[in-house]
Amino acid sequence: MTLPRIALIGAGIVAELYAKAFERGAGASFAGVFDPDPERAQAFTARLGGKVYGGRDDVLADPAVDAVLVLSPNHCHFDDACAALASGKHVLVEKPVAASIAEIAALERAAAAAGRVCMPAHNYIYMDSVIRMKRLLAEGRLGKLASLWILYNIFHSAELAKRYGGVLREVAVHHAYSLLFLAGRPVSVAAQQSHVHAGTLETESQVMLTCTMPGGALANLWVSFAASDHTADPWTVLYKVLGTKGGASFSWNDALVEDDGGPAWGITNYVDSFHTELSHFATQAIPGIAPPLSTLRDAREALAIIEAAERSIRHGGAAQHVIYD
Ligand SMILES: NC(=O)c1ccc[n+]([C@@H]2O[C@H](COP(=O)([O-])OP(=O)(O)OC[C@H]3O[C@@H](n4cnc5c(N)ncnc54)[C@H](O)[C@@H]3O)[C@@H](O)[C@H]2O)c1
Repeated sequence: MTLPRIALIGAGIVAELYAKAFERGAGASFAGVFDPDPERAQAFTARLGGKVYGGRDDVLADPAVDAVLVLSPNHCHFDDACAALASGKHVLVEKPVAASIAEIAALERAAAAAGRVCMPAHNYIYMDSVIRMKRLLAEGRLGKLASLWILYNIFHSAELAKRYGGVLREVAVHHAYSLLFLAGRPVSVAAQQSHVHAGTLETESQVMLTCTMPGGALANLWVSFAASDHTADPWTVLYKVLGTKGGASFSWNDALVEDDGGPAWGITNYVDSFHTELSHFATQAIPGIAPPLSTLRDAREALAIIEAAERSIRHGGAAQHVIYD
């Protein structure tokens, strides 16, 4: 079987995680890379082969490229993904997929019109333990869902945090699509934020979302860039679901290795998630064998949860209904 030929748009930190996935063999062939900084692009082709492209549109005009990974800064995602679909390429687009629900809906329409896959890079739900958690919940093995917890505590220096923006749109989007994957749509969200940080951030460093689920369960979603966890049992990322007949938990601390090459690169669950996600894109979604585990519709609904949290923060933490359509 011919492997899909995939090029990168953007060669920053996250691109390195995809490079590791290509190196391990994800059922995809590396076609090349564009980055406005050609040295960054060359570092990838020196390792993986493929071409250095002089511009995004050179990538999209190349008939030897079947699909692109949109790994550019957030404000480029929508335009890059639209242009790629219009050129007949399949697209895997990093989170947050776009800045508004209307843009994500436009991408859904563009993908349908082009007959191409546009898959959000919702990598956290491609971890085996999260998939098992979903299965246990769906099969009723945990009974009735009582509470769900997703906690993220990874200190980001002011310099690193500046690349991304606030934790609500940048990181809590992982929590929101994970909640949708595991337990479905929350009805309402109450949210708080904080700016405490060792340095000075222009954006919030911490958010807590309490979501009410249709059956009355509470889903607690917490994100912090603010401080390292110096305790004896530190958190990084923790998922826990507690039901009336059972529970399941999963921690990114389950398997760690020494790798200080980049942020969180020693966390094997995290690094592996990019491999599983890329492999799903290349071997399942592109050939039409199975849809993405988390779709553009989920990206749209995840943003609806984030927007409800933003309204709640503006209203002093009062719970807000999530508006999905
Ligand atoms: N899924 C995850 O766990 C995860 C983790 C980190 C980052 N991300 C996402 O990945 C994206 C990139 O983040 P990063 O950490 O790699 O950032 P980064 O700043 O390290 O890299 C961004 C790269 O994009 C390049 N670039 C700038 N303008 C561009 C353009 N117009 N077209 C193409 N490339 C351009 C920059 O030169 C840089 O090399 C962001 O959207 C971020 O939210 C996702």
